[in-house]
Amino acid sequence: MTGQIEGKIAIITGAASGIGAAVAHLFHAHGARLVMADLSKGVTDLAAELGENAVAIVGDVSESTDARAIIDLAVSKFGGVDILCNIAGYPGNSRGTLVDCSDENFDKMVAVNFRGPFMTMKAAIPYMIARGGGSIVNVASTAALKGYPTLVPYGGSKAGLVALSRGAAVEFAEHNIRVNTICPGPHETPMLLAAVEANPASKEKIIAGVPLHRLGKPEEIAQAIYFYASDASPFITGTVLPVEGGQTA
Ligand SMILES: NC(=O)c1ccc[n+]([C@@H]2O[C@H](COP(=O)([O-])OP(=O)(O)OC[C@H]3O[C@@H](n4cnc5c(N)ncnc54)[C@H](O)[C@@H]3O)[C@@H](O)[C@H]2O)c1
Repeated sequence: MTGQIEGKIAIITGAASGIGAAVAHLFHAHGARLVMADLSKGVTDLAAELGENAVAIVGDVSESTDARAIIDLAVSKFGGVDILCNIAGYPGNSRGTLVDCSDENFDKMVAVNFRGPFMTMKAAIPYMIARGGGSIVNVASTAALKGYPTLVPYGGSKAGLVALSRGAAVEFAEHNIRVNTICPGPHETPMLLAAVEANPASKEKIIAGVPLHRLGKPEEIAQAIYFYASDASPFITGTVLPVEGGQTA
């Protein structure tokens, strides 16, 4: 891998599954110290599997007390925060149009996908300032960049995250804090597989919309997140990187 991450203190939300778990494995293999957070208790199993330099916390990123507890754990266990990867996400439970989306479902997408990263950034940035800088990587979606029927409210919540990231990149550049966004296209994770299971015909349709004609692998997108998080990208901030096999090209 290009870029160093050894010894860095990295927080990964959504680390129990899919893209977050792939990032945790990659960062750990390259010597980062990890705080892994997730709603799912599976995150504690992953910490036990990784062993040294990996701790887990079960919590909901959209709750301010939980978000703060995640950041506080990094400070109490390792002494600060260098890297924050907001990967936890909620795709919604509606397969219909905007009109079919319940208010509660909309609110939950906004809470997890937009409010959650706001909460963790708000708690982490003062510690990054104290350490002379840091890197924040927020995971949005191609649905933030392009209209996809049935994903409209989800895309709106992720577009909010893109704007939050770009604004924070400008606001905290003077503190050497970089903030970048990754927009995944379809990746083979439990989140996507659950959607495909509910509608088996959708898989071929999704793949047909990807010029590279396949789903992405969590390990592939983890490398893009590593690039942003590590010192391989010191002059890159406020950018939005689609990782989607050409889906939005
Ligand atoms: N897989 C795809 O095709 C795809 C496409 C575009 C965007 N994304 C985004 O990528 C990110 C990772 O998704 P994935 O595909 O790995 O999904 P996944 O379901 O495998 O993992 C998501 C993880 O986030 C956790 N989580 C959900 N809500 C949470 C909350 N409130 N607090 C803490 N943890 C919470 C879940 O428990 C789960 O472990 C998400 O933000 C998702 O929206 C995924």
